[in-house]
Amino acid sequence: MAKEKPWSGRFTEPTNAIVETFTASVFFDRRLYLYDIMGSIAHAQMLAHVGVLTKKERGAIVKGLKEIEAEIDADKFSWSVALEDVHMNIEARLIERIGEVGKKLHTGRSRNDQVATDLRLYLRDGIDVVSDAIAQLQKAILDLAEREAGTPAPGFTHLQVAQPITFGHHLLAWFEMLVRDAQRLRDCRKRVNIMPLGAAALAGTSYPIDRAYTAKLLGFDAPAENSLDAVSDRDFAIEFVSAAALLMTHLSRMSEELVLWSSAQFGFVELSDAYCTGSSIMPQKKNPDVPELVRGKTGRVTGHLVALLTLMKAQPLAYNKDNQEDKEPVFDTIDTVLGSLRVFAGMIPGMKVKRDHLLRAAVMGFSTATDLADYLVRQGVAFRDAHEIVGKAVRLAIDTDRDLSQIDLDEFKKLSTAIGKDVYGVLTVEGSLAARNHLGGTAPTQVKAAVKRARKRLIRPGK
Ligand code: ARG
Repeated sequence: MAKEKPWSGRFTEPTNAIVETFTASVFFDRRLYLYDIMGSIAHAQMLAHVGVLTKKERGAIVKGLKEIEAEIDADKFSWSVALEDVHMNIEARLIERIGEVGKKLHTGRSRNDQVATDLRLYLRDGIDVVSDAIAQLQKAILDLAEREAGTPAPGFTHLQVAQPITFGHHLLAWFEMLVRDAQRLRDCRKRVNIMPLGAAALAGTSYPIDRAYTAKLLGFDAPAENSLDAVSDRDFAIEFVSAAALLMTHLSRMSEELVLWSSAQFGFVELSDAYCTGSSIMPQKKNPDVPELVRGKTGRVTGHLVALLTLMKAQPLAYNKDNQEDKEPVFDTIDTVLGSLRVFAGMIPGMKVKRDHLLRAAVMGFSTATDLADYLVRQGVAFRDAHEIVGKAVRLAIDTDRDLSQIDLDEFKKLSTAIGKDVYGVLTVEGSLAARNHLGGTAPTQVKAAVKRARKRLIRPGK
C-alpha cells in the first residue's frame, strides 16, 4: 500500500507491516484533530492572503476541512494506520473530498512545523482548562477555610503536635500551593503561545509567507524567531508537565493528610460516602480511595516529566522522529491532572470536619508550651532560660500525667518566680490562637481576613 502514502514517490518497496504500526502515531495523535484543522485553515487563509492560493482554492480547502471536522466529531471518519498520523489522515481525506485542489494545502509547510503548532494550540487550551479546575478547587478550599476559620486544630512538625493552629489556617496553606501552581501555568502559557508555522521542515520556505498574519489568525502572541528552534523545541511541553508534576505533588501532600486525618487514629475528618469505597471482605471498612489514588497518580505525572526530559536530552537540531513521543506524556498529564483536580473539588465541600476531635488533639501534646515560654519572656526572662523552665514544666506534666494547664501555681512558682496566676490565660488553646494575630498568622481573625484577600487573588484562566 506504499502508494497510499503522500511521501511514497521515491520508494519502490512498501513499508514493512510491523514498521508501519511501529512508526504510526495516529492511535494517539488523532486527539489533535481540532487543532490540526484549525492550523490548516489558518495556513490556507494565509496562502490566499499572499497570493499563493486563489480565493476559490482557499474556499474549497476551508470548506473541505470544516466538513472533515464534522465527520470526525460525528465519529464517521475512518482513520488509517497506513497514513501514519493525524496530519496525513486529514490531508488525504481532504484530497479525497475536494480533489486536486486539496493537494495545494501543504504548500510552504511541513508536518514538522504543523505538529509543533498543533501541540501548542492543544496545550494552550489544556492549560486554560486545568487553570479553571485549579480555581474551582481553590474556591472549595476557601469556603471550607472560611467555615473553619476559628476551629482549633493541632499543628504538626515531624508529625508530632507542635503548636495549636486553626483548621482554616491549615486549609489556606493548601490554597497557597495552588496559587503558585496557577501562576506557573499562566507563565508557561506565554511560552506555549508562540507559533512554529512557517518554519516548514526546518529552514523555512521559499514562498512569500506572512507568518504574522497566520499567528494573528490562530491567536498566537508571535511567530517563533528561529525556524530550527521552532520545529525542534519542546521546552513548552516540559515546562507544562513540570508545572503539572508540582501541582500533583501538592495534591498528593493534601491526599496524604486526608488519608491520615480520616483514619480512626486521627479522626479529624470524615469523607462523604460518595467519595469512599468499601472492602469486599471487611464489612466495617470505609476507605479513602480518592485521595489514595490521587497520591498514586502523582507518580505517573512525575514519570512523564522524566520521560520528556530524557526524550530531549540527546536530540540534535532540528526535528527528529523521537519528537513523536512527546504527545502521550502530555495527553496523559492533562487527563490525570484534570481528573485529580475535579475529584478533589467535588470531595472537599462534603467533607465533615470533626471539631471535637481536632480540639482534643490540639490540647494534647503540650501544644501551648511555646506560649508559656513567650509568657516568661514577657516577664523579663531570656528566651533560652524560658525554654529550659518550660522544658521542666513539661517533664513535670508528663511524670504526673497532666496537661500544662493542670499544673498548680505553687508548682509553677517553684520552677520560676516570674510565673503569676495570669499564666493560665496563655496555656489555653484559644489564648494561643488569638495571640498569633499578624499577617500570615493562625488567629481566627487573621484567617477570616486571609480568606477575603484570597478570593480576590484567584487567577482567571487565559492570558
Ligand atoms: N507524527 C509526527 C510527530 O508526531 C509528525 C511529524 C512527522 N515528521 C516527519 N518528518 N516524519 O512528530
